[in-house]
Amino acid sequence: MAKKTIRDIPLQGKRVVLRSEFNVPIKDGGIGDDIRIRAELPTLRYILDQGAAVLILTHLGRPKGKPAPEMSVKPVADRLATLLGQPVGFIPYGAEEDIQAAAAAIPFGQAALLENTRFWAEEEKNDGEFSRFLSTLGDTYVNDAFGAAHRAHCSTEGIGHFLPAVAGFLMEKEIAALGETVERPQRPFVVVMGGAKVSDKIALIENLADKADEMLFGGAMANTLLAADGYAMGDSKIETDKLELVREMMARVRQKKCRLVYPKDFVAADEFSPDANIRVVAADQVPAGWMALDIGPVTVSDWAEIFAGAGTIIWNGPLGVYEMAPFAGGSNGVARAMAASPGITVVGGGDAVAAARQAGCGEQMSHLSTGGGASLELLEGKKLPGIEILRDK
Ligand code: 3PG
Repeated sequence: MAKKTIRDIPLQGKRVVLRSEFNVPIKDGGIGDDIRIRAELPTLRYILDQGAAVLILTHLGRPKGKPAPEMSVKPVADRLATLLGQPVGFIPYGAEEDIQAAAAAIPFGQAALLENTRFWAEEEKNDGEFSRFLSTLGDTYVNDAFGAAHRAHCSTEGIGHFLPAVAGFLMEKEIAALGETVERPQRPFVVVMGGAKVSDKIALIENLADKADEMLFGGAMANTLLAADGYAMGDSKIETDKLELVREMMARVRQKKCRLVYPKDFVAADEFSPDANIRVVAADQVPAGWMALDIGPVTVSDWAEIFAGAGTIIWNGPLGVYEMAPFAGGSNGVARAMAASPGITVVGGGDAVAAARQAGCGEQMSHLSTGGGASLELLEGKKLPGIEILRDK
């Protein structure tokens, strides 16, 4: 990687400010999925093993610049301590001098987590003074918060103007999987694209169609693509106000060398409900009054053949309403076929990752991204402020 990482700098006896991405679901004071906390352990263990004292920064939720007890990151500190197998301190919201004193008191070889950075209104404004204050909490800055790298905030970008920034292992892995894999893929390079709205993915489709050999479309976005080509899609979810925009985009994309693959069949239902009547129908046979809610079995088996010969597969966006069992078969089947592929397999975006894990295939993928918006923007080819601020090697 072109950027410096924690391997490139001395850490022994240092006071490290580590920006992590612990924006995890919290309900009634309990943490839901803790994958983002687990994903941070290799970086944190490495820094602690080198004998550094670590002050961890993260945001959680959108508290709008003031303290909100239900978005406190105290439960994260507790979960981190359990996973790490050693105490993790917690520094509450308070006066700058108190925070500076608490940070300076962290023993070497130990870590403490500062309260939610978004409790300070300055954080999201990327305020220079607050960035400078954060930089006084240590002598070394490590940014491992890939999931927040598309945000130019004090803790993700601003602080890097006061302390040289290097990447942690998670940031390094995400940049390699989503950035470098796309730039220099093993071929054939196959992109699987799903999700609800094609209009949200225009930049993504155009960028990846320049690089991929094949692009496979599923999810509700495929309904809109087929409708733009004149297919009657029954009562399927379609972005009717975006059809012209989609036609213009597809006209550009069809000029590229990438082969575009649409679903051949769908699982259709007579209502949006797990108890609906369902039928498997050809893509051009969705009956009036019915809606396509998943890709069908012929599509899955065609795609599995493509995956068997792929060098790289990147999957973004679910292929059906995977939260409802009758419409999860497409995402499950694609996840299994991807997991069986000999190629490099990368899943980006919260829903596709959830679908891959629901299919029991998470562990078998080369990489599951911890980024939602950040992975989308990186795959769109955008420059992310939290990555740009990292020092070059
Ligand atoms: C995420 O969960 O995608 C990141 O933490 C960014 O959160 P935000 O959209 O509230 O900035």
